[in-house]
Amino acid sequence: MRIAIIGSRGTLGRAFSRQAHAAGHELVYLDRPSHDLTDFDVITRAITESNVDIVAHPAAYTNVDGAESDPGAAFSVNALGTRNVAIGCVEAGVPLIYISTNMVFDGTKRTPYTEFDTPNPKGVYATSKRAGEMYVEHLMSKFFIVHTSWLYGKEGDHFVHKIVRAADTRGAVGVVADEVSTPTYVEDLAGALLKLVGTRLYGWYNLVNEGECSRFDYAREVMRLTGRDRVTVTPTALADYARPAPTPPYSTLKNFVGAQAGIVLRTWQEALADYLSNVTNVGTAG
Ligand SMILES: NC(=O)c1ccc[n+]([C@@H]2O[C@H](COP(=O)([O-])OP(=O)(O)OC[C@H]3O[C@@H](n4cnc5c(N)ncnc54)[C@H](OP(=O)(O)O)[C@@H]3O)[C@@H](O)[C@H]2O)c1
Repeated sequence: MRIAIIGSRGTLGRAFSRQAHAAGHELVYLDRPSHDLTDFDVITRAITESNVDIVAHPAAYTNVDGAESDPGAAFSVNALGTRNVAIGCVEAGVPLIYISTNMVFDGTKRTPYTEFDTPNPKGVYATSKRAGEMYVEHLMSKFFIVHTSWLYGKEGDHFVHKIVRAADTRGAVGVVADEVSTPTYVEDLAGALLKLVGTRLYGWYNLVNEGECSRFDYAREVMRLTGRDRVTVTPTALADYARPAPTPPYSTLKNFVGAQAGIVLRTWQEALADYLSNVTNVGTAG
């Protein structure tokens, strides 16, 4: 297939591009600054002229806390930028894969959110991502909207690097025990997205590694797998931290729809162990 990717230099974008290339797909890279998705004319023309079979859109304004003080940036990219991409896809007559977030759910449930639960985003970032979904849903008929959570991978600066840096600097870390979701390895997610691309099973998906954990459990597993067992990890509470953005306390996603098509990711513990056994620069942003 010929696939356009918008945001190919992000943590997920790089993994997706690598795997798509390895699988023999032809890629068209639409990245900033030449292809800023907030520029309607540029992005719609690029999509219609690219002659692709599908567009993958993992690009986003991803600074969750920063969005609270700069909602204009978050909505320009995540909502209006996604509208622009959706219109480009409609004009080109091709489907779209839009990546969204566990944060569109409010976190008040105590069992995993399925694809059929109703989003109720809190905070600017979550609301802007949900607005992007709504543009896709209303403007397009053939789309994959994929919710995922707590991404990490070879590139980018994410929780794994940050917690290792904190442990190495301070020798002890405090981590919230009342925020629960699922760490997801972008290589596993990219593989699942590529399986989806080959289907006509359009609609809503929750694609995450299997299982769930608190940030505290996650941090302890990272310490164990990187030989930092002696680091003291202390459980703390969300209420102890005054973060600008509201955090859903429980946002585990259940992969119900993907599983019906045989698309299931391995457990978060297996994926994390695999990642950490291959990464040489843990603690350093890629
Ligand atoms: N990270 C998580 O834990 C997480 C959890 C759930 C869902 N998600 C969603 O998963 C997707 C991928 O996340 P990620 O962590 O891989 O993101 P990321 O590493 O922050 O990468 C975001 C990408 O978006 C691009 N981008 C931003 N603004 C753009 C614009 N105006 N025009 C074109 N490209 C633009 C960036 O380009 P530059 O390279 O030029 O900066 C970058 O390549 C996002 O949709 C995010 O909302 C992420």
